[in-house]
Amino acid sequence: VFDAKVDSLMSLMTLQEKVGQMVMYSGSGAITGPTVNTNFRTYIKEANVGAMLNVYSAKATRDLQKLAVENTRLGIPLLFGYDVIHGFKTIFPINLGLAASWDLEDIEKGSRIAAEEASAVGIHWTFAPMVDIARDPRWGRISEGMGEDVYLASKITRAYVRGFQGDDLSKTNTILACAKHFVGYGAAQAGRDYHTVNMGEEELRNVYLPPFKAAVDEGVETFMTAFNEINGVPATANKFIFNDILRDEWGFNGFVVTDYTAINELVPHGFAKDEKHATKLAIEAGIDQDMMSSANRLYLEELVNEGEVDVALVNEACRRILLAKFKLGLFDDPYKYCDEQREKETIYKPEFLEAARHSAAISSVLLKNDEKALPLTSEKTIALIGPLAKDKENILGNWGAAGDRRGKAISVHQGIQEYVADAKINYAKGCEIEGDDESGFNEAVNVARQSDIVVMVMGEDYDMSGEAASRTNIKLPGSQTKLIKRIREAVPNKKIVLVLMNGRPLDLSEEDTLADAILETWFPGTMGGNGVADVLFGTYNPSGKLTVTFPRNVGQVPIYYNMKNTGRPIPANNPKEDYKSNYLDVPNTPLYPFGHGLSYTTFEYSNFKMSTETIGFSDTLKASATITNTGDYDGHEVVQLYVHDKVGSITRPVKELKGFEKIFLKKGESKTVSFDVTAEDLKFFNHEKFTVEPGEFEIAIKGSSDFDFEHTFTLE
Ligand code: IFM
Repeated sequence: VFDAKVDSLMSLMTLQEKVGQMVMYSGSGAITGPTVNTNFRTYIKEANVGAMLNVYSAKATRDLQKLAVENTRLGIPLLFGYDVIHGFKTIFPINLGLAASWDLEDIEKGSRIAAEEASAVGIHWTFAPMVDIARDPRWGRISEGMGEDVYLASKITRAYVRGFQGDDLSKTNTILACAKHFVGYGAAQAGRDYHTVNMGEEELRNVYLPPFKAAVDEGVETFMTAFNEINGVPATANKFIFNDILRDEWGFNGFVVTDYTAINELVPHGFAKDEKHATKLAIEAGIDQDMMSSANRLYLEELVNEGEVDVALVNEACRRILLAKFKLGLFDDPYKYCDEQREKETIYKPEFLEAARHSAAISSVLLKNDEKALPLTSEKTIALIGPLAKDKENILGNWGAAGDRRGKAISVHQGIQEYVADAKINYAKGCEIEGDDESGFNEAVNVARQSDIVVMVMGEDYDMSGEAASRTNIKLPGSQTKLIKRIREAVPNKKIVLVLMNGRPLDLSEEDTLADAILETWFPGTMGGNGVADVLFGTYNPSGKLTVTFPRNVGQVPIYYNMKNTGRPIPANNPKEDYKSNYLDVPNTPLYPFGHGLSYTTFEYSNFKMSTETIGFSDTLKASATITNTGDYDGHEVVQLYVHDKVGSITRPVKELKGFEKIFLKKGESKTVSFDVTAEDLKFFNHEKFTVEPGEFEIAIKGSSDFDFEHTFTLE
């Protein structure tokens, strides 16, 4: 509908004005990359800027918008982008935590709220969701994604896009979403951020591309390039992934922005001889907007005038960017998102905070709970120990957007106090997150001695995960584990509950032997303390399940549930057998597998049934199982469907998630859950094409990925 309008506007534009649309600068202040350029006001007035990032508030965006609209010949409004990753002001749990809820409606609702808040401060566009599959906990950005599984990540991607973009982009409370980082960023060698990626087309298409395809299918408006190279070609100059796959195969017609200074980085990558050359390579690969490189601004016009770049490419890029601005309604009213009254009324609405509290509760994963150490009961005296117990700064996690890391955030200490009005809490910090200072240990031991139960709140600093935050040591940092040991020795008969906040799977092998219960709360956000208290005291019975494997130690990395079998798999009855694919020092199995998460109640799976044992290519197999709540509490369970394609023209993973449903069961209640399986679900890329191959498949319906198959069906 906007094509004619874009055409007519473009017919008035000079080449320089078109290139201007393809340029983005960061407002000084919050920066998310290595360089800032403070001349953006001048460039805006010269019609050399199409978008800004890191500028927000109704007032600040209005001021800059005015510069663009009132000082340039055509008055084309700016686009304001920002990293609204897991909330804007009201911060939700980090994305890896949100994924652990397996609750698509909740994730959509959270991103809807984030869009409400962000759009009320002038933001039109979020650089989210990050849909990179990640299987390496050393990589700090694992915290921003959905985990290791393709099927689940693709579903979650769609929920985010729906939440941010809503059903009508011209509404003032919807924003453009951005699928990032295209592609392979999560596969950085050795988990080091920005590092090299080498992968065959089979892995690319079966594992790393599908969540991006899901974003396109859901109508995502923008894409962001990845910093990494793939098979020798940096993503920001990669014609194969942008022109061939994204545009030609998938028909994506939104626009592509680079990551921060990624065009300039083609030079150190060793792919471009200088920044002018890099500019040419990026546009020829189908990249529309330059975030912070100044490359398009400095070189693109010249490249076109010299006949080095086809002007048609500039026209296409400019057209795509303008189209997004038309869709948002910015040409009708460039200030429609700059409403100070709406800003005041929208930020931190009580219902937003309530939603964030709920998300914090449903994202928490109970990793261990021996002898029912949890839930807590209100009459007990609690020793609350640890560097994160009173913390408000870290609890928001990385990419905390404009969230308040002081007053507004609820610490676990505060959450417990608010939960039990006259809570008997003996608090001691005990140690810092990092460093080897043990001077607080004695006080911590004393409070443990004086209390009935010990709750230790520990983990990582929030900036130990996220961008440029890779670690080779994935244990609890500093002297925290030492403190748990000291307390264990001092009060051997008291229960120790470890509440964790961290942005990656940690090596918890020692903690697993020391604590009676471990509750993984990730970084649970603004209302984290309340949400965690709800879980600790059992108002919310934990239902989160891991979407990423927790290894026994960093040497097992990468480890994920849907690995291949190898030619020498270990026999189940002799995992140490020589000349088999195993380790000398630890088992192949993880500490906590994908899909794992306990509840205060127990669930029994029985009565597995299939509608047929043989299906044709156009048939549907119905698989079902009965799940019974056999414990003492009502609770939710995430029921998971797994399939194994036994023989393929390329080898297939030992297990693949193909469906899930989160159900609620009162104690004693049973429900039958059924899943449809069709040939479409069994499709994979086999070096040449997507295919479904006849043969035998194993199938199971379980509560985690840790099981052996017992049933098969045949596709013929
Ligand atoms: O959106 C981010 C991206 O994920 C990493 N580099 C900076 C961008 C903008 O802040």
